Amino acid sequence: MVLKRKDFLGLYDVSAEEITEILNTAVAMKEIFTRSVKKIPTLRGKTIVNLFFEPSTRTKSSFDLAAKRLSADVMSISKSSSSVVKGETLLDTAKTMEVMGADVVVIRHSASGAAEFLARNIQASVLNAGDGAHSHPTQGLLDMYTIREKLGRIEGLKVLIVGDIAHSRVAHSNIRGLTTMGAEVRVTGPATLLPKEVEKMGVKAYTNLDEALVGVDVVNILRIQLERQASGLFPSINEYRHFYGVNEKRLAQLADDILIMHPGPMNRGIEIESSVADGANSVITEQVTNGVAIRMALLYLLAGRSLKHEDLN
Ligand code: CP
Repeated sequence: MVLKRKDFLGLYDVSAEEITEILNTAVAMKEIFTRSVKKIPTLRGKTIVNLFFEPSTRTKSSFDLAAKRLSADVMSISKSSSSVVKGETLLDTAKTMEVMGADVVVIRHSASGAAEFLARNIQASVLNAGDGAHSHPTQGLLDMYTIREKLGRIEGLKVLIVGDIAHSRVAHSNIRGLTTMGAEVRVTGPATLLPKEVEKMGVKAYTNLDEALVGVDVVNILRIQLERQASGLFPSINEYRHFYGVNEKRLAQLADDILIMHPGPMNRGIEIESSVADGANSVITEQVTNGVAIRMALLYLLAGRSLKHEDLN
C-alpha cells in the first residue's frame, strides 16, 4: 500500500503514486456497483462519522453510501441538529464522536483549515469533504477518475477549468491533482475571479473563454457563486453568462469527444446551458456515481489500513 497517511486533507502534498493507488482502488470499488448485492464486509466493525457543518447533497450522501457499502457503522451529524447551535466547539463535537469509537471523521466546514485543525487534535483519521475555499480533495479525485475512465489517461491531456478559480476549493484540488498527474491545466474566468499570480500554480490563465477552449480535451465548469456578484466581483449574471457561459454555440466549436464536467450543484442557464449539461458530451451524472467509488476507496485506504487487499472480495 502506497498511501500510509492517518488523514486525507488535500491533494497539495499527495504524490502521483498515491493518486494512482486511490484511482485503482476505486476501480475495484466500482465493480461492486454491478453486483446484485452492492455491499462488501470490508469495514465491518469500523465507525465512520460524517460531520457536515455546511450544506451538501452529493458529498454527504455519497460518503454515507460509501460507508454503508463497506459495511461500516455510520453516523451523520449536521450543524443545525447538533449541540454546535448551543455553542459547542468543533473540536468538542469531534472528540465526543471519537470517544464513541469513531475510526474516521469526515468533515465539511466553511472554514479553510478546519479539517487540518481536527487532524492535529484527534486520534481518528480525518477526511476533508470540503473546507472553505481551500480544498475538496475527493471532488478532485472523482474528477480525475472520470477523466481517466473516459479518456484512458490523464497525462498530457488539456483540461480547462472555467469560473471562479479564486474562491473554489474544487478548482484548487483539481489544479493540484491534475498537474501532479501530468495534465496541462488551463483556467479562465473574469480577472477578478482569478487568483493573483495564478500561473504560479502551474496553470495557463485566460480571461477569454473562447481562446481558452481551443484544443482542450476536458472542460470543467464551476458553479458561479451568486453572492460574488453582490460583492462586486463581476458586473451582472447576464454578462457572466455571455462571456463565460458554456452553451451549444461554444460546444459546436469543440472536438466531438470533448468531456463536459461540472461538480454540481449547477446554475442551469448561467454557467452551463441545460442542453450542454444534459447533452452527449456531459459526464456530470457519471461524476456523481464515481464519487461513491472514490469515497469507498479512501475510507478503505484510511480505515482499513490494517486490513489485507483480499478483504475487498
Ligand atoms: N460537488 C459538491 O461538493 O456538491 P455538494 O455540495 O452537493 O456536496
